[in-house]
Amino acid sequence: MSYTLTVAAKAPVVAYPALIAAQFVNAQSQDAVKIEFVDEKAVDKASAKLTKGDETVVDGEILTKLASAFPKALTGAETAQEWIKFGAEELTIKDFKKLATSLEKLDSHLNYRSFIVGYKPSLADVAVWGSLRSNGMVGSIIKNQVYINVSRWYTLLESDKKFSGVAELLQKSVADLKKQAKVKPDGKKEGHKANFDIDLQDAVDGQVVTRFPPEPSGYLHIGHAKAAILNQYFAQQYHGKLIIRFDDTNPSKEKTEFQDSILEDLELLGIKGDKITYSSDYFDHMYDLAVKLIKEGKAYADDTPLEKMRQERMDGIPSERRERTVEENLKIFTEEMKNGTEEGLKNCIRAKISFDNPNKALRDPVIYRTNLTPHHRTGSEWKMYPTYDFCVPIVDSLEGVTHSLRTIEYRDRNPQYEWFLKALNIRKVHIWDFARVNFVRTLLSKRKLQWMVDKGLVSNWDDPRFPTVRGVRRRGMTVEGLRNFVISQGPSKNIINLDWSIIWAANKKVIDPIAPRHTAVVEPVKVHIVDGPSKPTIEKKPKHKKNPEVGEKDVIYASDILIDQEDADSLEDGEELTLMDWGNVIVTKLVKEGDHVKSIEVKLNLDGDFRKTKHKVTWLADTEDKVEVDLVDFDHLITKDKLDEGDDFENFLTPKTEFHTAGVADVNVKSFKVGDIIQFERKGYYRLDKQAENGKPAVFFTIPDGKTVSKYGAKK
Ligand SMILES: *[C@@H]1O[C@H](CO)[C@@H](O)[C@H](O)[C@H]1NC(C)=O
Ligand SMILES: *[C@@H]1O[C@H](CO)[C@@H](O)[C@H](O)[C@H]1NC(C)=O
Repeated sequence: MSYTLTVAAKAPVVAYPALIAAQFVNAQSQDAVKIEFVDEKAVDKASAKLTKGDETVVDGEILTKLASAFPKALTGAETAQEWIKFGAEELTIKDFKKLATSLEKLDSHLNYRSFIVGYKPSLADVAVWGSLRSNGMVGSIIKNQVYINVSRWYTLLESDKKFSGVAELLQKSVADLKKQAKVKPDGKKEGHKANFDIDLQDAVDGQVVTRFPPEPSGYLHIGHAKAAILNQYFAQQYHGKLIIRFDDTNPSKEKTEFQDSILEDLELLGIKGDKITYSSDYFDHMYDLAVKLIKEGKAYADDTPLEKMRQERMDGIPSERRERTVEENLKIFTEEMKNGTEEGLKNCIRAKISFDNPNKALRDPVIYRTNLTPHHRTGSEWKMYPTYDFCVPIVDSLEGVTHSLRTIEYRDRNPQYEWFLKALNIRKVHIWDFARVNFVRTLLSKRKLQWMVDKGLVSNWDDPRFPTVRGVRRRGMTVEGLRNFVISQGPSKNIINLDWSIIWAANKKVIDPIAPRHTAVVEPVKVHIVDGPSKPTIEKKPKHKKNPEVGEKDVIYASDILIDQEDADSLEDGEELTLMDWGNVIVTKLVKEGDHVKSIEVKLNLDGDFRKTKHKVTWLADTEDKVEVDLVDFDHLITKDKLDEGDDFENFLTPKTEFHTAGVADVNVKSFKVGDIIQFERKGYYRLDKQAENGKPAVFFTIPDGKTVSKYGAKK
């Protein structure tokens, strides 16, 4: 196992001595010390730390540690201690007078000496030189030869890359860290070193072009969201461009309305392409390229019946039509298929790659098909359309895409993609594979989701139980939470069935510091404060105790208040309890009916110590200002984590997936807008889905926080 040296790039005194020491070690045994920078003022409260396994040392100890582990690389450890101390304490100071005294000392020591100890650079030189290098005031002193021996010694060591190279190393890493920080989707700087390492091959800053190519045939779901976000991420990271391309090559499936909904979905993800394009814009071009392939004998027309073609492909048997002449192929393509004749409809065009390649994706894939359905953009101009396999490499290449992100299910088809680029002699595009995300207990299939909509099991495609972008956003997922999640999953190439709690926990990190705190009471029980305020009074209180920027809210204090039934039932006569953000009260009367408390009387004891009470209770003034609310929670649609092949999803539907709790909330709710995310204290996070109107309560959806367990077992 090697050592890792982590250096705080923004430390007031950068750990140059440790960096130089690491260079010495690495010069002798390559990569023995891995060097990392963080864009912070400190690591573990020090300017640097050295770790190996679970052993960690910081600052000055790093030198001693490395010297004892690599005595050949770093000599003179015995005598270096005082110099390490001298460097750290007396040379890093910024007070000119004190610094002058230290430098005089060093200058006289270096009289008649080339190095601090002995006849070659040793650990003492590393410590002292590094300390001087980290002191911004020293540069000009050295240059002006104020302390001539120090200058001589300093310049001598500087000619050694092991010394001078560290500044460059730091500069480069700072630039890298800045670049990484820029990547943060919301423009905020990332506080710590990114914990993932996703780079694109041969990416040139400013020249990267990525694309997100949805088919306009449905709504985007969480799987698409990953692709869209990753494409945007890379475009931003490399200061390049993102193309949104509608892959509209199949008129039987596509509709204009889906095109609009996809753009809306992208907006919900905070994604706006630099350009919106359509594969159909390139129909002419693709036609010409198909003609070219046919003329060069690299494609042929095939009218083998579908089933037979499939079987031949499976068995690696060449089609009987494989050796048709160029003339015959051309005629079928440019006349029969193009005109959509009966003969044309029987045929398709296949690339002549191989009939028996072990990779079945290379067994003469179909590149053009006849289809008489009018296209939503080109109408009846075309009667045949390129397939996805043919279209994508060509349009990627034509549009200047530099990096094509594809999910790993396409991995078998990557050689095919490359074959087309080569056969057509068009610009090369890099392919970057990533794993799609799957979540437990849901369905992504368009057909199955449509079935649920049709059966009325969910309200629509934006139902909060749906894995659609609309659905999860409506449930309370933030753009930032989603992005953080996707980017953290970015480089993973394993398709795994993720627990929803992972993505909701990422979301909670985003909303918790900014969600205003409010009060809601369910199954309210009346509490009368006998010596409470004679009439209701309003006070301004912070919406978030730890984050004043969130603003203030109105809190009404009144002698009649409401508390949750559950809280009421936990109280005892004579008990002292705390009303949160008000003070202590003592129960003077408790009226019970059966097991439940029906009403309570208390008297104030505002001098009471809240640390001594057992119950701290949320309360709400029982005035006309309170707002009726409907708190809605949801469960997963499916009762099984992952449906197996052959499972009929209809047998695994969760019987009940929607739960309503009526309650009342504080007056501030009236000013909320749909989409606002808040916390009802001691209850959880909620998103306002619908304001109160026509006597109906305001509807809030519970936002999962990754911790709650659903009725049917899975975390959410
Ligand atoms: C060190 O500096 C002193 C003057 O500060 C000078 O007399 C002496 O020659 C220097 N020594 C060397 C080795 O250059
Ligand atoms: C296809 O259409 C073109 C132009 O409309 C026509 O000249 C040609 O004869 C047609 N070919 C066939 C085979 O129908």
